[in-house]
Amino acid sequence: MIRHATVADRARISEIRNAVRENKLGAANVSKVADTARWIYDNGTFWVWEEDGAVQGFAVADPRDGTIFGLFIHPDYEGRGIGRTLLPLACDDLRKAGFAVATLTTSPATRAEGFYRTDGWIEIGRQDDGQIIFEKKL
Ligand SMILES: CC(C)(COP(=O)(O)OP(=O)(O)OC[C@H]1O[C@@H](n2cnc3c(N)ncnc32)[C@H](O)[C@@H]1OP(=O)(O)O)[C@@H](O)C(=O)NCCC(=O)NCCS
Repeated sequence: MIRHATVADRARISEIRNAVRENKLGAANVSKVADTARWIYDNGTFWVWEEDGAVQGFAVADPRDGTIFGLFIHPDYEGRGIGRTLLPLACDDLRKAGFAVATLTTSPATRAEGFYRTDGWIEIGRQDDGQIIFEKKL
């Protein structure tokens, strides 16, 4: 089942964010990510995938800057089409917020890199820390 997250989902969303094996949250980013997550919980939308009685993945956009803030699937539920299903919902939120292009960053040589390239995201550069910057027309 796909639905909007509620306050009750926050702990499970954090659990999934911390369970991933790639694109793990670095210590330097913890407080910035927490601030953004708080703003989105208050003003925007996390999309969640619920299965087997629990949230198993989420996608979320930041409508302030046109970025995909997060796409994370629990490792036990990867490779079953959940990411491919949730990502367009977050992209649609950006389109509705007036963006013509979505942007995101991800670590190179990860499953996510291949996933985004397969999904038509175009690399437009690298950050100083090596993260790939991807863009896709909405
Ligand atoms: C990246 C991630 C979101 C993908 O979600 P997922 O639910 O496992 O992906 P899906 O099952 O929806 O895959 C969709 C398609 O992408 C393809 N794909 C997945 N990984 C791929 C790869 N490394 N290279 C090429 N294609 C890939 C799949 O083959 C699939 O297409 P198919 O069904 O036609 O075969 C998920 O693996 C994840 O949460 N990873 C850890 C956290 C992370 O890195 N998030 C991104 C942070 S920016």
